[in-house]
Amino acid sequence: MTQIQVSNVRKEFKIARKPSGFWNGVRGMFLPEHETKPAVDGISFNIQPGEMIGFIGPNGAGKSTTIKMLTGILVPTSGEVSVLGRVPHKHRELNAANLGVVFGQRTQLWWDLPLIDSIELLKHVYKIPQEQFQKNLAHLSELLDIKSFLHTPVRQLSLGQRMRGDLLAALIHEPPILFLDEPTIGLDIIAKENIREQLVNINRERNVTVLLTTHDMADIEKICNRMIIIDKGKLIYDGELERIRQQYSQYRKLRVDFKYHPQEQLHINGAEIVKKDGLRYWFQFHKDEISASQLIARISEAEEIVDLTIEEPEIETIIKGIYQSPASIDAIPEQERVSV
Ligand SMILES: Nc1ncnc2c1ncn2[C@@H]1O[C@H](COP(=O)(O)OP(=O)(O)OP(=O)(O)O)[C@@H](O)[C@H]1O
Ligand SMILES: [Mg+2]
Repeated sequence: MTQIQVSNVRKEFKIARKPSGFWNGVRGMFLPEHETKPAVDGISFNIQPGEMIGFIGPNGAGKSTTIKMLTGILVPTSGEVSVLGRVPHKHRELNAANLGVVFGQRTQLWWDLPLIDSIELLKHVYKIPQEQFQKNLAHLSELLDIKSFLHTPVRQLSLGQRMRGDLLAALIHEPPILFLDEPTIGLDIIAKENIREQLVNINRERNVTVLLTTHDMADIEKICNRMIIIDKGKLIYDGELERIRQQYSQYRKLRVDFKYHPQEQLHINGAEIVKKDGLRYWFQFHKDEISASQLIARISEAEEIVDLTIEEPEIETIIKGIYQSPASIDAIPEQERVSV
């Protein structure tokens, strides 16, 4: 059974035209005051129960807008969205009962009240029977390791604790679907690891579907088996993370420490400089186009090398490459890009 269906969805926002300068001001009198801009521009995908999906794309790609349409907060301009067979914005309450939502950038918890009070409030909102509530609360506070601060006012919590509190709030009514919009934003490495582990456990124990937006590729690597990438409102990849990794496995990175700052315009045939950090440079190359030893020879002709290592490409670099040139994933056959 398909749990979530998004078919050819488009969302336009009206934005106020900003007249600047006299003539534009005059012209503005004859032009409409608003212009429309597509934030989501005809995307389609389906999600099955229990999937864990990384929903990624550069800033402004349309990820949050898509999630808001799935929760029913926003109405699509055209196309269809369905969550468990319902149109979200037409059945917001029923839809909410099936969803847990966390927007990492803001909290749904009451700032001045102890965490438990917000959770108790949700018990009434979702009409959770007392016995069920107690059971869920006990189980989730164990799983999310929350017991020690359940009675602390939310504003006194650390960011990582608050995020766990938000997850508790999102899960207390046992929704089958969880939407997470940047749930690890601003967390330190340990807190991120904790959240990731907890999400994997929640998915394993309850087969909860997770749609996760993040800019941290480690989140995707640890949590997701499928990745949907959008850019400028359009879908550019939908498929396994592993497939992209394989496609890019022919790429290698050479990390070089130079003795002196290399010339501004350093250019090495057959390789691309993908990162710089002081005297340390990273070159990316395709192993069929140039061998590592050829590359090293070419670089050392230009500059004096102190140290070097060959690195496998990290997913981070791969994704950056895809954002910069979406065409680079065109080699993936269409039917594998849009999994159903
Ligand atoms: N309420 C709104 N009114 C007008 N434009 C909006 C509104 N919400 C979003 N947009 C625009 O729609 C586009 C997509 O925004 P969205 O928030 O969905 O991006 P995103 O992929 O979540 O980005 P980020 O990674 O920065 O969170 C952006 O250009 C944004 O400026
Ligand atoms: Mg966003």
